[in-house]
Amino acid sequence: MKVVSFSIFKGGTGKTTTTVSTAAALATKGKRVLLVDLDQQASATRYLDLDPEAMPSLYEVFMGLKSAQAAIRQTKFGIDVLPSHVLLAAIEEALEPGDEQKLSAMHRYTGFGRTHVCRRRR
Ligand SMILES: Nc1ncnc2c1ncn2[C@@H]1O[C@H](COP(=O)(O)OP(=O)(O)O)[C@@H](O)[C@H]1O
Ligand SMILES: [Mg+2]
Repeated sequence: MKVVSFSIFKGGTGKTTTTVSTAAALATKGKRVLLVDLDQQASATRYLDLDPEAMPSLYEVFMGLKSAQAAIRQTKFGIDVLPSHVLLAAIEEALEPGDEQKLSAMHRYTGFGRTHVCRRRR
């Protein structure tokens, strides 16, 4: 598995565009792609035609209510997504070092950032 992370605090710097484009390019090449949308604005989630209000999302994962595996949604673009939710903003302050393990428990993610593209082995 390879992890690619596009992460910078400043808005309008191309995170969403680059993340979705990279995910689409890898999917087109036949790779299995999991896009982890850690941005509370949920732009990448919306971009891929998913409803960011729907549950479960990364909000439930970080609240410990759902496993990361259970929150994965499939898209018609061949990209699997761990969707964001606006409520991520509410828990961002409460996140503690180690909470990223809630993702690594299922997929052995090695990185953590605002938006990830994870390529999984076929
Ligand atoms: N490589 C690029 N060249 C030109 N414009 C871009 C490029 N990447 C993104 N943009 C534009 O920049 C703006 C911000 O991009 P976005 O991906 O939404 O940034 P972020 O997610 O960091 O807020 C959008 O209008 C987008 O279309
Ligand atoms: Mg964005």
